[in-house]
Amino acid sequence: MRILGIETSCDETSAAVVDDGVKIISNIVASQTDIHKQFGGVVPEIASRRHVELILPTVQKALDEAGCTLKEIDCIGVINRPGLIGALIVGVAAAKTIAYAANLPLVAVHHLEAHICANWLVSSDIKFPLVCLVVSGGHSDLILMSDFGKYEILARTRDDAAGECFDKCARVMGLGYPGGPMIDKLAKEGNPHTIRFPRAKVGDSLDFSFSGLKTAVIRYMETASAQTSIPDVAASFQQAVVDVLVDHTFRAVEERGVGQVLLAGGVAANSGLQAAIKAKGQELGIAVNAPPPALCTDNAAMAAAAAFFAYGRGERAGLDLDSFASERIG
Ligand code: KG4
Ligand code: ZN
Repeated sequence: MRILGIETSCDETSAAVVDDGVKIISNIVASQTDIHKQFGGVVPEIASRRHVELILPTVQKALDEAGCTLKEIDCIGVINRPGLIGALIVGVAAAKTIAYAANLPLVAVHHLEAHICANWLVSSDIKFPLVCLVVSGGHSDLILMSDFGKYEILARTRDDAAGECFDKCARVMGLGYPGGPMIDKLAKEGNPHTIRFPRAKVGDSLDFSFSGLKTAVIRYMETASAQTSIPDVAASFQQAVVDVLVDHTFRAVEERGVGQVLLAGGVAANSGLQAAIKAKGQELGIAVNAPPPALCTDNAAMAAAAAFFAYGRGERAGLDLDSFASERIG
């Protein structure tokens, strides 16, 4: 089954052609980073307007690169929740229009489910039940997945998402937007043991809290001098985030007795996080899978993958499909 995926939930306009939910034929991501960079973050209204300009050329490019036309497409999958509402509306309107014009079935995809399903684009050896750590610009969730479409949220963030924390801390370190990849790069040159930033606990819960860490980095940078090593600050900050994410993930694994961990979302692209979680998995004999960086951040191939599994369980969307800024998974 050949699915055309469409994704416009934030600042990437993306379209992809994926076969049977696992094989990427094309995956075009038109990034708007250069436009938003000058504002230090995504400006929702500008993102929506840019999606309008980019969506049809991006879909055409995905079809061209796949060497097919809409005649060879069997279904359209679109992320309709959660995300920036004006941005989502553009992708959903495009998906509905193409589905209507080409008489194709339409499937609505949850943004986090798409991130999780990116793992099946790179691995066929994933076993349920599993614990998935979904860390992005808007979410830091631990999710127990017992099958496709069956989710139980084990933990969420009480305040900032991990990606939001990366982006804000990068800004005070003078690294610009988007901060996550910049911190990842600089941290490789720094010593993670230089500064002991806080690792917040929320009682006995598996929930996350990153606002205290963010404040600690802001306070630290207020007292920084010309001698302060930004790579050391970046490495120490990243280590604090990674320690908490790895610790909570394997506590969830133990509590639920599962043998498989998945990483998903933009922050899952972080090389320090991927290395630490894989090392811990190896130590404990738990299988760990993570998509490559380009499939961790927002892209339409993950939307097509999730749509394939949703189509298989009978999910269909009508032409009255709406977009939602926030909605829980499952
Ligand atoms: O999933 P995503 O592309 O968009 C959302 O759904 O939010 O995630 C974007 C987030 C941003 O906060 C970005 O800074 C972060 O993922 N990110 C990273 C890395 N690459 C992207 N954070 C840490 N290390 C990275 N290599
Ligand atoms: Zn995302």
